[in-house]
Amino acid sequence: MTAKLILGKDVSEEIYSELRQRIEALKAKGTVPGLAVVLVGNDPASQVYVRKKGEMCESLGMMSRTIVLPEETTQQELLDVVAGLNADPAIHGFLVQLPLPKHIDEEAIINAIDPRKDADCFHPSNVGRMLIGEPDFLPATPAGVQQMLIRSGIETKGKHVVVVGRSNIVGKPMAAMMVQKGAGADSTVTIVHSRTQDLPYITRQADILIVAIGKPRFVTADMVKDGAVVIDVGTNRVDDPTHPKGSRLVGDVDFENVKDKASAISPVPGGVGPMTICMLMANAVKAAERAAEGSR
Ligand code: GUN
Repeated sequence: MTAKLILGKDVSEEIYSELRQRIEALKAKGTVPGLAVVLVGNDPASQVYVRKKGEMCESLGMMSRTIVLPEETTQQELLDVVAGLNADPAIHGFLVQLPLPKHIDEEAIINAIDPRKDADCFHPSNVGRMLIGEPDFLPATPAGVQQMLIRSGIETKGKHVVVVGRSNIVGKPMAAMMVQKGAGADSTVTIVHSRTQDLPYITRQADILIVAIGKPRFVTADMVKDGAVVIDVGTNRVDDPTHPKGSRLVGDVDFENVKDKASAISPVPGGVGPMTICMLMANAVKAAERAAEGSR
């Protein structure tokens, strides 16, 4: 069997065209959705992500503000920037790009973000709302994975979803979303991680395997059931002397071998990658719609 490819580019295009209509409707009523992104320091990967977020905002006709602060920024200075964004009516949603420099307590910063403007859905009150099935926002990467499943027509109801990885950004919220009642969920969910005993025994039982463990080609073909759907959230840069840059991106799944066993699979790059920014934009539009309604 050769798996059907699930491409985030195609799925995100569909969502962007829906978002464009919602943005036009907001603008017609006098609200320009505004998203701010705060970057502290010079991490090259973060610089790329932040630039892409700003460019996408502009291409959708939203207002974008990028705030770049030096590596030496103190925690209090960053808290002051967050307080300014919380109070700014032109900014409907914002995020502080992670990771932050070591001298800044990430949790303290996330806790200071007004939950109504929390475009990442990292604030504990938004995480809690998601867990009880009353979400305001959804965390961008897991929401992107869920949209890939829904819009590729993959049945999730009653299926065994195995999530590989337990991070706060992907693994834990992904599992919490798939176990909810409703479309694109209603699954039986297992989380496995670095301390799981006989992890392959469990991944082989997955109808849908979602991998976010941050280890290049961690999931091999022997860990996958015939006909499973495999979603690879990993992005790992590995050395490759044959590549012009000397390195290339690979996922957490051994794509070349797993594709012959899976019924559907997302590649890296081109799979989940484009979905994160897309769902971030969706959160920003939602925040602007809510502000325009004057609710909450
Ligand atoms: N760093 C890596 N992924 C993310 C993300 O989704 N949001 C933020 N703020 N930082 C990140």
